[in-house]
Amino acid sequence: MFISRVILKGVWEILGITLGKKEALIIIGSCFLFTGTIMLFIYEHIVNSLFFFQEICYNGVRGGFFMKKSIITFLCLMLITLSGCTYNTKYSESDAPLTITGGLSDTLIVYYSFNGEERELAKQVQSYTEGDLLCLQTSKKYSTDFKERIKEHRKEREAYAKALKENKHDYKNKHVLDTLPTLKNQIDDIDQYKTVYLIYPCWEKDEPLIIDSFCMDYDLSGKTIVPMCTSEKNWRGHVKYSSKKSVAHFNKMIPNANFKRAKAFTDVKGVKEWLETIDMI
Ligand SMILES: Cc1cc2nc3c(=O)[nH]c(=O)nc-3n(C[C@H](O)[C@H](O)[C@H](O)COP(=O)(O)O)c2cc1C
Repeated sequence: MFISRVILKGVWEILGITLGKKEALIIIGSCFLFTGTIMLFIYEHIVNSLFFFQEICYNGVRGGFFMKKSIITFLCLMLITLSGCTYNTKYSESDAPLTITGGLSDTLIVYYSFNGEERELAKQVQSYTEGDLLCLQTSKKYSTDFKERIKEHRKEREAYAKALKENKHDYKNKHVLDTLPTLKNQIDDIDQYKTVYLIYPCWEKDEPLIIDSFCMDYDLSGKTIVPMCTSEKNWRGHVKYSSKKSVAHFNKMIPNANFKRAKAFTDVKGVKEWLETIDMI
């Protein structure tokens, strides 16, 4: 009893750390269910016949049916578990350079990514524009769990909106700026760039606040700004991204910039066509 408790605790901790508590619970639960079904299966054969091994061998059709049922139950539970695991992202760009060294381009492509989609988009833009690429990073520790990240995003947004309201929508106000995550990146010569691409995921119709940190940390006035975001076709809340609203928001932060139409991409196709449409290539 003691040994099985120790084993169970060990398995729980290993799975909990690698996959998350919810997934660990589902995996352990499905293992119990599977073992339970097997036990029931064996018990039934013991009751029916003391020679249950013989019973299994001879009663192949019946045995096969129960066995198949147990395996299908187990596989279904594992499938549910694995689909649950996709809520956790293991994507990390903590190794990405924090600055641009020796960039000669007059185009800067900055992006922020949670699962990596924006990096793909940014790389495509880079392939057509030959711009300098920079992954935005913050020292703030966010959750890698999808649901937790939504909560963090809402909390941050609420604090930002409150500070803006209390300070008459002065985007440069210290209390407003204090609600933004601190950028780890350092761009030595922002004046070198004439065009800036802002690439980010659409989060409840807004941008993650790290994009605002970038807009406020650097003087982007007079530059051409191209906002591009990624969104999910069948997003559960059906929150539609509004290009007009986004550009209006960016315009308040950077009043003297030349904004191009913003676009939400549900996959990384059609980038070249879009850049041609807005006269960027
Ligand atoms: C906090 C959060 C909020 C999101 N809100 C929306 C949304 O309002 N509309 C939408 O289409 N997709 C939404 N999504 C889905 C992301 O836009 C989609 O996963 C993203 O474009 C893919 O980028 P990624 O690789 O950085 O995750 C949201 C995702 C997260 C994590």
